[in-house]
Amino acid sequence: MKHFGFPKLGLAGLLGGLAVFIASCAEFSGTTMLPPRVPGAKFVGNNTCKECHAAQFKTFAGSIHSRVHVEDTSLAGGTSCESCHGPGSEHFRTGGGRQFIVNPGKDPSSCFQCHQDVHAQFNLPQHHPVVEGKMNCAQCHDPHGTDIAKPAGGLAMARLNENCAQCHKEQTRLVIFEHQAMREGCAVCHDPHGSINAKLLNTRDNNLCLKCHAQVQTVSGAIFIGKSSHTTYLQRGSCWTSGCHTAVHGSNIDSRLLY
Ligand code: HEC
Ligand code: HEC
Ligand code: HEC
Ligand code: HEC
Ligand code: HEC
Ligand code: HEC
Ligand code: HEC
Repeated sequence: MKHFGFPKLGLAGLLGGLAVFIASCAEFSGTTMLPPRVPGAKFVGNNTCKECHAAQFKTFAGSIHSRVHVEDTSLAGGTSCESCHGPGSEHFRTGGGRQFIVNPGKDPSSCFQCHQDVHAQFNLPQHHPVVEGKMNCAQCHDPHGTDIAKPAGGLAMARLNENCAQCHKEQTRLVIFEHQAMREGCAVCHDPHGSINAKLLNTRDNNLCLKCHAQVQTVSGAIFIGKSSHTTYLQRGSCWTSGCHTAVHGSNIDSRLLY
């Protein structure tokens, strides 16, 4: 999966509080800055939101979006909340009128306005049903947490697979013979947003497995993967559909990962 703009180094700098993303149609290699609009409303700044929505501020300072501002940062507290929710003056004036504030949990289009690449991923033939309105971004990303980008790193098994596990119990249950690849997280094999390949696989053929399991050819021409010769096995199809490693997510029966 493609990563946007800022390398990790830059991110650290950002989180150090130095830089700010300011709007006015600036583009950060893939992320465009285009906040949602609310007819007749003006930006008021985060401090106004804080009066009524203190909960969302608890861990938000650590989120990359807390550095995203769509107006002059001199507006009280900056405009990071409104970068996703749209200008809040009418919502504030009406004491919280829902029709005057954007909720990207109900409609992801405000995320797509900035993350156009992600929009494209969700339009690939295989995708999580987000554009269909059956799922939303917040089921995998925590918009107000310290770690909206966390699924990409951190404590792999403990943190990121857990998120997928809410819905995919079969692939995440405890097994006797674990596949250590799972510790790297689901995204080593799956594109979580969308893919051109079946089952959201990021690679459609054996190369999916060969990126971690080296394929070695002996002088006599035999092909080894791991400790055993795969010379004839490889003609049968992919590592997982050929009847060999059918239990790619882990097995209760055999360490070679089969059902
Ligand atoms: C005067 C208090 C007040 C202020 C200030 C305020 N809100 Fe609200 N907000 C509310 C109330 C009340 C609700 C509705 C809660 C409900 O109906 O369940 C609400 C709901 C929301 C919702 C959910 C809307 C939905 O469709 O579910 C969002 C998002 C939101 N506010 C964002 C903001 C943002 C961003 C700011 C700052 C620009 C802000 N609010 C400022 C009172 C306020
Ligand atoms: C990255 C975009 C983004 C930013 C920035 C953001 N929000 Fe949200 N907000 C969302 C999403 C997405 C939801 C829907 C969450 C869900 O459906 O679980 C939401 C929901 C809400 C709600 C409705 C209650 C809830 O939690 O579902 C309120 C209130 C709210 N946000 C306030 C704020 C405030 C205040 C800030 C600034 C501190 C802020 N938001 C910053 C994306 C964002
Ligand atoms: C006003 C523009 C804007 C909106 C709206 C917006 N984002 Fe972002 N988002 C950014 C910027 C800027 C960054 C940091 C720079 C980058 O990664 O391009 C970012 C970063 C992210 C990252 C981390 C990317 C990484 O590589 O680590 C995630 C995940 C993300 N946004 C998800 C969302 C979701 C989900 C929504 C909607 C709820 C949303 N964003 C709405 C501008 C926006
Ligand atoms: C099924 C879970 C899931 C859903 C739903 C989801 N994401 Fe993601 N997203 C991820 C994971 C996992 C990563 C980390 C990918 C990686 O490590 O390759 C990610 C990464 C990202 C990134 C970082 C850069 C990139 O392109 O990989 C952005 C930005 C982002 N998501 C935005 C969004 C937006 C916007 C939505 C809703 C429209 C959304 N995501 C919905 C799981 C999800
Ligand atoms: C909120 C529930 C939910 C979460 C969280 C979730 N998914 Fe899904 N997933 C779904 C739904 C719904 C489908 C579509 C099923 C369908 O179309 O039949 C799906 C489909 C898939 C598929 C394709 C299955 C197939 O048979 O084609 C894969 C692979 C997948 N998800 C992986 C992941 C990964 C990896 C994560 C974590 C980054 C994740 N999912 C998080 C609900 C979820
Ligand atoms: C080592 C690579 C790899 C990893 C890591 C991985 N998967 Fe898969 N996954 C696959 C392959 C290959 C298939 C296709 C299996 C098939 O077609 O028989 C698949 C299929 C799926 C399916 C479709 C249903 C099924 O079992 O065929 C879901 C859902 C799924 N994976 C979810 C996940 C989740 C959630 C995680 C992380 C907890 C994950 N996967 C980690 C390789 C992987
Ligand atoms: C992210 C790296 C990674 C990927 C991708 C990956 N694996 Fe693994 N796999 C491992 C590690 C690490 C082990 C444990 C050490 C070892 O046996 O090499 C392992 C072990 C195995 C084992 C058990 C070997 C034994 O003798 O006990 C099999 C079988 C296996 N993997 C098959 C696959 C298949 C099939 C795929 C592709 C669908 C795949 N792996 C993709 C990392 C990976």
